[in-house]
Amino acid sequence: MVQFTLPKNSKITQGKTWPRPVNAKSQREYRIYRWSPDDGRNPRVDTYYVDTGDCGPMVLDALIWIKNNVDQTLTFRRSCREGICGSCSMNIDGTNTLACTKAMSDISGAIRIYPLPHMPVVKDLVPDLTNFYAQHASIQPWLQTVSPTPQKEWKQSHDDRQKLDGLYECILCACCSTACPSYWWNSERFLGPAALLQAQRFIMDSRDEATGHRLDNLEDPFRLYRCHTIMNCAKACPKHLNPAKAIADIKRMLVERQVYPSFRCAGILPANPESIVPVVASNFRL
Ligand code: SF4
Ligand code: SF4
Ligand code: FES
Repeated sequence: MVQFTLPKNSKITQGKTWPRPVNAKSQREYRIYRWSPDDGRNPRVDTYYVDTGDCGPMVLDALIWIKNNVDQTLTFRRSCREGICGSCSMNIDGTNTLACTKAMSDISGAIRIYPLPHMPVVKDLVPDLTNFYAQHASIQPWLQTVSPTPQKEWKQSHDDRQKLDGLYECILCACCSTACPSYWWNSERFLGPAALLQAQRFIMDSRDEATGHRLDNLEDPFRLYRCHTIMNCAKACPKHLNPAKAIADIKRMLVERQVYPSFRCAGILPANPESIVPVVASNFRL
């Protein structure tokens, strides 16, 4: 039988246990992934004890407390501390989420923290998101128009604005893409749920006039169709968005634009094109 083992330098070793805080009435144990590119050593898991009476209730509060009081070398990203910037995403207690909105009280036992999975690590809890951001840039996340620019603003009806709900709220935290098995194995070629949800955000925007070009760009066996509707992305999203649905909607639009004209030519098109899609879709890789 073939046996697979991790490369020697990626095996996680037992790290240091830091001293407990003195005079703390209540403490929580944290086991945190550590790795530095500077010392040539394997990753390790350090154990810390946090005085929960001396810090806020969220996991990010504890990380900041550790950095300020125990170990200044602990490295992580954070900015807004209120679930807006997306920079404190990490794997906490086995789930990708935001440290600033994850309450310690929601976790029992020792709190285990690792960087987002299947990404190269810059240091400790900081993943390298270069490829993730390049994929976001590749969907051209800005409004594109050919009509003359209006004197004041590009107007949008209330109904059209509502079509962006569930899409515009994405904070690009990467929790979804790094929870997606298809993305783990094909992250160079599959755009992943975050970039695809962003693509759908611009496809759906009534002010954008590049829908055909955007769909052309996505019609590819890897960029879009590596999604196998496993739904990990929707489960992982800390903003309660549903990238899997956005991806399914893009696939449906690709089928519609292929099928709708041929049905119209044959003179057998029903009034509502969506009603033919479920039938025809079974012949496509949806
Ligand atoms: S639904 Fe698609 S994008 Fe979401 S986790 Fe599954 S394969 Fe990945
Ligand atoms: S869809 Fe959700 S999990 Fe994915 S990047 Fe956006 S906010 Fe983060
Ligand atoms: S610090 Fe901004 S989302 Fe957590």
